[in-house]
Amino acid sequence: MPTMRAALISRANGPFDLVERPIPAPGPGAVRIRVEACGICHSDAFTKEGTFPGVTYPRVPGHEVAGVIDAVGAGVTGWQAGDRVAVGWHGGHCGHCESCRRGDFVTCQVSPQVPGITYDGGYAEYMVAPTGALARSPDGLSAVEAGPLMCAGITTFNALRHSGARAGDTVAVLGIGGLGHLGVQFAARMGYRTVAIARGTDKEALARQLGASHYIDSRTQDPAAELLKLGGARVILATVTSGPAMTAALGGLGLNGTLLIVGAALEPIEVPPLLLIGGRRSVAGWPSGSAIDSQDTLRFSELTGVRPMNEVYPLSKAAEAYERMMSGQARFRVVLTPDR
Ligand SMILES: NC(=O)c1ccc[n+]([C@@H]2O[C@H](COP(=O)([O-])OP(=O)(O)OC[C@H]3O[C@@H](n4cnc5c(N)ncnc54)[C@H](OP(=O)(O)O)[C@@H]3O)[C@@H](O)[C@H]2O)c1
Ligand SMILES: [Zn+2]
Repeated sequence: MPTMRAALISRANGPFDLVERPIPAPGPGAVRIRVEACGICHSDAFTKEGTFPGVTYPRVPGHEVAGVIDAVGAGVTGWQAGDRVAVGWHGGHCGHCESCRRGDFVTCQVSPQVPGITYDGGYAEYMVAPTGALARSPDGLSAVEAGPLMCAGITTFNALRHSGARAGDTVAVLGIGGLGHLGVQFAARMGYRTVAIARGTDKEALARQLGASHYIDSRTQDPAAELLKLGGARVILATVTSGPAMTAALGGLGLNGTLLIVGAALEPIEVPPLLLIGGRRSVAGWPSGSAIDSQDTLRFSELTGVRPMNEVYPLSKAAEAYERMMSGQARFRVVLTPDR
């Protein structure tokens, strides 16, 4: 039986085990993808640490996958071997089933499966995905470019395009990591006056190159006060993993401003009710989106020149690559490619 290499986690907080396993066969309604690249998202910590509801082991992480279809399962139409595809965080929140009606989208009955969480993802040479999770990858993007757009990209793109901000509005991106560096590019390409906020000054030059017209160092400056000097933000897109960092920026919202949270911080944020009432301000969250939203993200990026800045590691160094992402030192996304 032909085998493939994969990096898997066999228990919560366990190490990455580099294993040889049989190449999986696609079941009905699914395809097998020969993985060409897989981004490492901070949300892979959910699998590594076992902090996401429903994660099961052993599990191959990875939900920023780009590659080529290599086999199709029974009943698949519209997809064939050789198609360039990408798979992102997909699953939950169909919006129609009984779980979603209760607001409990983690148990969504229509699309309860998330790659890298409830089925094996892209830290491998091959993966199997349901066709509902597939986005077509445009020719103008390489696999290494497309991978990170499938979670870091779609999440910031989709959040911004639904945020209510209009061209010319001031939009701040809080946290310039994997999500944030793409958020800055999308915000600038969408025509917003784009403010990057990060700790320290070492990311300032890169943030400006990516399209930020303003930069706030949250270590030495008060982000809320600095945003108010610019007239207040219509949207603060919070990509940080820290609740207190979100609290510190909240006061920088202008009239009708929204703190739009995509960063999965575990600590709470503090929200003064009067701040919300007086200026009709709000605090909201945003999950990534559907496969069609992913396709839109890829197409927008191809058209406008949005590209992830990546550090590429071979799959055999998955553990080192993951630690590099977790260290906050990566500029800005770490991407795995097969050793073959
Ligand atoms: N909503 C969704 O659908 C969705 C999708 C993907 C990821 N996420 C979540 O989004 C978050 C970011 O993911 P990522 O892949 O972009 O991670 P990342 O590349 O590791 O970036 C993390 C960011 O958090 C900031 N940060 C870390 N520790 C901090 C602290 N103590 N105080 C202030 N800021 C801190 C860093 O800010 P500096 O720039 O200042 O260093 C950096 O910008 C994660 O929580 C991830 O789980 C959510
Ligand atoms: Zn992700």
